[in-house]
Amino acid sequence: MLKREFEKSYVERFGKDFVNSFIEKIKTNYCQYIRVNTLKIKPDVLRKRLEEKGFVLESVKEVGYAFKLVDEPFAVSSTEEYLLGYLYLQDKASMMPVIELNPKPVEIVLDAACAPGGKTSHMAQLMNNEGVIAAMDDNLDRLKAHLFNLQRLGIKNTATFNLNASKVKKLGVLFDKILLDAPCSATGTVWREKKRLKAVNKHEVLKHASLQKKMLKACVEVLKPGGVIVYSTCSLEKEENEDNTVWAEKTLKLKVSKTKYFFPQTDDTIGFYYAVMKK
Ligand SMILES: C[S@@+](CC[C@H](N)C(=O)[O-])C[C@H]1O[C@@H](n2cnc3c(N)ncnc32)[C@H](O)[C@@H]1O
Repeated sequence: MLKREFEKSYVERFGKDFVNSFIEKIKTNYCQYIRVNTLKIKPDVLRKRLEEKGFVLESVKEVGYAFKLVDEPFAVSSTEEYLLGYLYLQDKASMMPVIELNPKPVEIVLDAACAPGGKTSHMAQLMNNEGVIAAMDDNLDRLKAHLFNLQRLGIKNTATFNLNASKVKKLGVLFDKILLDAPCSATGTVWREKKRLKAVNKHEVLKHASLQKKMLKACVEVLKPGGVIVYSTCSLEKEENEDNTVWAEKTLKLKVSKTKYFFPQTDDTIGFYYAVMKK
């Protein structure tokens, strides 16, 4: 499952034992999580409804409104509860950047790479469907899924733009908070998508790292002084994560307050990274 070039760099960075346990974990079945859409239903009420249908759920210690989907008699996305917008299927690690950003109902927030809307809808939930979210993505097909998800989940505080985030200045708005869940090599998704690490190479990683810097720079230009930006990727590559964080600190003069990695074998999640930074 791991290409030689990735395995070598992971061993150098994380050590042999860590990589062996990573390899063992990604051979197992990926376990899904659901985020309860608290705009529409209380977590315990949804849990009861799904358990009555035979779903086995486990509480998530870090997120009071999320459950691990331990067993499903049929796809949860085929349930009435899903269609009614009571839940969103989302990896636990993917919930963390929004929790760190902590957007408030009175704030103007940018989701600079938004489709298909997992994090936009999470932000709207924390904002109680108030304030404003500008959500943008340059991929129209993915935006269709985004709009469908926002509609299903009852999100009303979001304006969606089909725009390249590098051109975000065009909106003429300064933001209190920004999430840049950047396009990336997605090497961290290998537990869920077993062939991912065969499909990418280091050249692609570097291409993404360069695009991510461009997007970070454009985002910081529209962040209010003192504003917070959370940068995240589902990549495990240093060039897309630590290196870009250090670059943002040095070149964009951001103050880094926290960085965090998630790994399948230690966190029961996809591989994921985020950095919390202040202007
Ligand atoms: C990691 S995905 C975003 C996932 C989303 N935040 C969520 O939680 O559902 C990255 C997104 O960036 C978009 N993208 C790539 N280049 C972009 C650019 N220059 N400007 C805006 N969006 C871009 C891709 O189309 C993709 O939808």
